[in-house]
Amino acid sequence: MSLPQKVRLVEVGPRDGLQNEPGEIRLADKLRLIDDLALAGLTTIEAGSFVNPKWVPQMADSDRVFAQLERHEGVRYAALTPNLKGAERALAVGADEVAVFTAASETFSQKNTNCSIDETFERFSDVIRFAAAHNVPVRGYLSCTLGCPYEGDVAPQAVAELTGKLLDMGCYEVSLGDTIGCGNAGSTARLLDALLPRFNTDQLAMHCHDTRGQALANILVALQAGIATVDASVAGLGGCNYAPGASGNVATEDVVYMLHGLGIETGVDLDRLIQAGERISQALHRDNASSVALAARGKG
Ligand code: HMG
Ligand code: MG
Repeated sequence: MSLPQKVRLVEVGPRDGLQNEPGEIRLADKLRLIDDLALAGLTTIEAGSFVNPKWVPQMADSDRVFAQLERHEGVRYAALTPNLKGAERALAVGADEVAVFTAASETFSQKNTNCSIDETFERFSDVIRFAAAHNVPVRGYLSCTLGCPYEGDVAPQAVAELTGKLLDMGCYEVSLGDTIGCGNAGSTARLLDALLPRFNTDQLAMHCHDTRGQALANILVALQAGIATVDASVAGLGGCNYAPGASGNVATEDVVYMLHGLGIETGVDLDRLIQAGERISQALHRDNASSVALAARGKG
């Protein structure tokens, strides 16, 4: 089995996770979480989003999160930004990287960003120009790459076209979102068969929500195909506000456990990561969705 020696983990818990947690989330808990993650060895942390706060109130204080977070050397603090206004807000508080997002489904694009897929690209061109002028890298997210909650199946060729468009516009990497966790090892393999003749493995990342418990299998398929960047959310925090029924991203602890078992380096201290997930779960009064964290409880 040919696998990458090293995987770059993109920790999205403070954004993708917390954006969908009910109730008010204290700023202090967000800051503690981000710090815990950096201390556990995560080097890319998506710390918040700069979207319309009426749509996603959980992220309304991202300006303060970025302004107050304790920066660790070697850690990149990234922000999700849908438009120029978002990118301006993010760079004003020192985001090291911004991420734009679109979808492989028109209905999802409308629900998530109130505009068509084509219009999302018009907004990105402003973001990318602005970020380039400030030497800030731009990541691209593509949602619904393995299926849409409104439109059902999504053609791998459509995903390939949009991936190419995001890369051509200046994104350094495209994160392939299984937004509602409907993919499986078979559909992931078929998607990658459509993408890998066109793109390098270092231009792609996996972003799997774990709604049907398939995320680790899908990630393993991607690793075997040579993809070495994986998004994950500590304690399996979150879901998606515009994808009914979607659960959180695959838990970072579970991904790290699998990667270390395969002999793949992550730079992450699993015990510290588990502690980070336990702490935020307690602060939010939620169940920890990481199986590895639950198993660790029994060991005392
Ligand atoms: P809009 O409401 O459609 O229209 O926003 P607008 O652009 O005309 O703006 C209307 C109001 O929003 C105005 O304020 C703007 O100033 C304000 P008002 O005059 O009403 O007071 N506004 C903003 N405020 C702060 N920051 C901004 C900003 N932009 C506009 N950046 C918009 C369009 C995209 C902003 C809106 O639809 C929105 O915020 N949507 C939320 C999208 C979101 O956060 N979704 C969840 C994240 S994506 C995700 O989770 C998927 C992913 O994880 C991958 C996967 O799993 O597949 C990435
Ligand atoms: Mg997501």
